Amino acid sequence: MFVSVLLVLLCVLFIFLQLRSGRPKNFPPGPPILPVVGNLLELNLENPLKDFERLRTTYGDVYSLFIGRKAAVVINGLETVKEAIMTKAADFAGRPQDLLVNDVTQRKGVILADYGSSWREHRRFALMTLRNFGLGKKSMENRILDEIQYTIKTLEKSIGSTLCPRVMFHNAASNIICQVLFGARYEYDDQRIKVIVQCFTENAKIANGPWAMVYDSIPGVRHLPLPFGKAFENYKTCQDFAFRLVNEHKKTRVPNEPRDFLDCYLDELEKRGDDGSSFSEEQLTNYILDLHFAGTDTTSNTLLTAFLYLMNYPHVQERCQQEIDQELQGKDQATYDDRQNMPYVQAVIHEVQRVANTVPLSVFHCTTKDTELMGYSIPKGTMIIQNMASVLREEGQWKFPHEFNPENFLNEEGEFVKPEAFMPFSAGPRVCLGESLARMELFLILVTLLRKYKFIWPEDAGEPDYTPVYGVTLTPKAYRMKVQPRTSN
Ligand code: HEM
Repeated sequence: MFVSVLLVLLCVLFIFLQLRSGRPKNFPPGPPILPVVGNLLELNLENPLKDFERLRTTYGDVYSLFIGRKAAVVINGLETVKEAIMTKAADFAGRPQDLLVNDVTQRKGVILADYGSSWREHRRFALMTLRNFGLGKKSMENRILDEIQYTIKTLEKSIGSTLCPRVMFHNAASNIICQVLFGARYEYDDQRIKVIVQCFTENAKIANGPWAMVYDSIPGVRHLPLPFGKAFENYKTCQDFAFRLVNEHKKTRVPNEPRDFLDCYLDELEKRGDDGSSFSEEQLTNYILDLHFAGTDTTSNTLLTAFLYLMNYPHVQERCQQEIDQELQGKDQATYDDRQNMPYVQAVIHEVQRVANTVPLSVFHCTTKDTELMGYSIPKGTMIIQNMASVLREEGQWKFPHEFNPENFLNEEGEFVKPEAFMPFSAGPRVCLGESLARMELFLILVTLLRKYKFIWPEDAGEPDYTPVYGVTLTPKAYRMKVQPRTSN
């Protein structure tokens, strides 16, 4: 008797939950929703990218998924993405606030800040300060070129053997942004920065990984000692590092004579006093970590993808080198302006970014009000996931959507052209804040290194594996490269 009553109650509960977790009226379609887990069983939690593609073929360019009880809408294809993040920009410019990443970063900083005055003020401040510290000017170029000299030193040591370039590129990218943020660079074997970069790369994998999905879908588990705890530990390590830098700067700064981004923020903080603005020391600590993280793992993973392809498409590498040799004849160093006369190199860099798909789901957006997308109704507070590959490899947008081919960015006359579907930095008001810096870095690093060296896939390395490791950023699997000095320049 007791068992029967229990079974009936369970059935009633099941039906109740099923009904409660249905899709709202005119909400985008999607697979049937299960109680508690929602649509999690539809996804390979280690890497859901293929599932996102599969679901697109069943449900179309706008479909919905339930991460536990939380509704998310996945948007695909240029037309849909443009309508959301450009045409209806303000409606789609929010960020979800109840995910693992929000708890880890304590809802401070700019990347995950919701659409509002704090985000706006901090974004404006960063763009202005980056410009003041030389973005778009010679001084940033020189900083990047100086850092490349350290990369060259590392490469020189590996001549005659092979080298795994991951740490080198991560440290180079980290150093470039560190100099702007707090006026410091670190040797590539410096333990302090190794630990920080390690924390960044680990968190980039945890933040989109299976345990984050569990954390996001089942609030009841959040206080249990489960593997997502590592993300909090890593962030704490980074915060301690940033906190020390802020304190050092407070002791050594001369007000209104800023040496770097951190000093500028301290000046701004003083200027604002108690005006109730969103500027604060806690914001600052997390803000520099945001910029440091965003400026490291993205650029370096793109560089790793570039060399993986350049070694395995030697004719593409050689054609870049011919163009570089010709254009830089008689010049000591490349400048960012030289890109205007290097259509092929430009095409290669853009093609690398297209296939690299470095930030595969962008950063999750969120609707700021009840709105519509492609005729569907999307309530305020719905999480929006941009499937970047659906644009970067969309059939009809590219000459060769599914292969690595720089012709995707060249017209009949061999001139560089940039199709509208090239949006690895996303678009709209939340477009990558570091786009100009990243583009400058990619150009100067690739051109300088290709001018000086030939990069060879080692004979004993077997077939290259182009499938990257999934995370907030996609990382090429570890590989080694052989470096040979070139004689023709
Ligand atoms: C190849 C390199 C890079 C790629 C592919 C990339 C890509 C992206 C993408 C896709 C977004 C999300 C945009 C959205 O939500 O719609 C983003 C945001 C962001 N990126 Fe980058 N990024 C790169 C380099 C950098 C660098 C060097 C910095 C350093 C300053 C940076 C700082 C940021 C920041 C602060 C945001 C958040 C912007 C906001 O929420 O308003 N990124 N990036």
